[in-house]
Amino acid sequence: MKISIVNFETIDSTNTEALNRARAGSDEGLCIIARHQSAGRGRHGRVWVSEKDAGLYLSLVLRPRIEAQFLPLITLAAGVAVHETLSEFDIAADLKWVNDLLVNEKKIAGILAETTETKRGLAAVVGIGINLTHQNFPPEIAERATSIEFETGRAPDRERIIETLNSALAERYAQLSAADGPRLTRNEWAKRSTFASGKIVRVTMPDGIISGTTNGIEDNGALRIRTDAGNVAVIHAGDVEMIRA
Ligand code: BTN
Repeated sequence: MKISIVNFETIDSTNTEALNRARAGSDEGLCIIARHQSAGRGRHGRVWVSEKDAGLYLSLVLRPRIEAQFLPLITLAAGVAVHETLSEFDIAADLKWVNDLLVNEKKIAGILAETTETKRGLAAVVGIGINLTHQNFPPEIAERATSIEFETGRAPDRERIIETLNSALAERYAQLSAADGPRLTRNEWAKRSTFASGKIVRVTMPDGIISGTTNGIEDNGALRIRTDAGNVAVIHAGDVEMIRA
């Protein structure tokens, strides 16, 4: 995939722009980057605070040719790419299902993958927010967040991060699209996550809360939980929190 970058000083949301351009027919590989977002979006309709230059705000258009059941794995493949990028900058992150990147249990990056129908077929947009600095975050977010600057003690090299991230994204997307891609993607994700199995968690879903121990990833990327009542629940959407023993 050839990546072509379009830069904005400010925009509402790079994901919204990428979705609109995908609907207008843009090719796979279009990458929208902004220095500031006035309406950055997180998962579950939350706001993604996007002060100027405090984070990397990037969205990539894909036109996946994988079976529909495996589409949720795009978000796992992107998580692996962000994990690899952070490790290039000497940051050892953890992947919390479905796609929070944590360092010492504090969030350093998040991913919002969205799909849309277009005249050229289904398109997916992978939106990635990475905290570059978190000095000016509102206090309630700052205490649960970290940033590349804080973890490395240096001002981050934004251009190098973008280059590393885009090449990791292209590589992990190619892996997902190739033979045996879904299995390889799940394995790569699980290798980098302490949440894939054996973690005691509480999951808040649209229709309730369950607690139990994580028990692996389903073929389509869903999370299996062995509940305290002894059943296995398969989670397709929800917020996972670690419960301290
Ligand atoms: C989350 O953890 O809730 C996902 C956050 C995703 C934020 C990124 S920033 C770039 C892209 N544009 C958006 O509006 N959201 C994503």
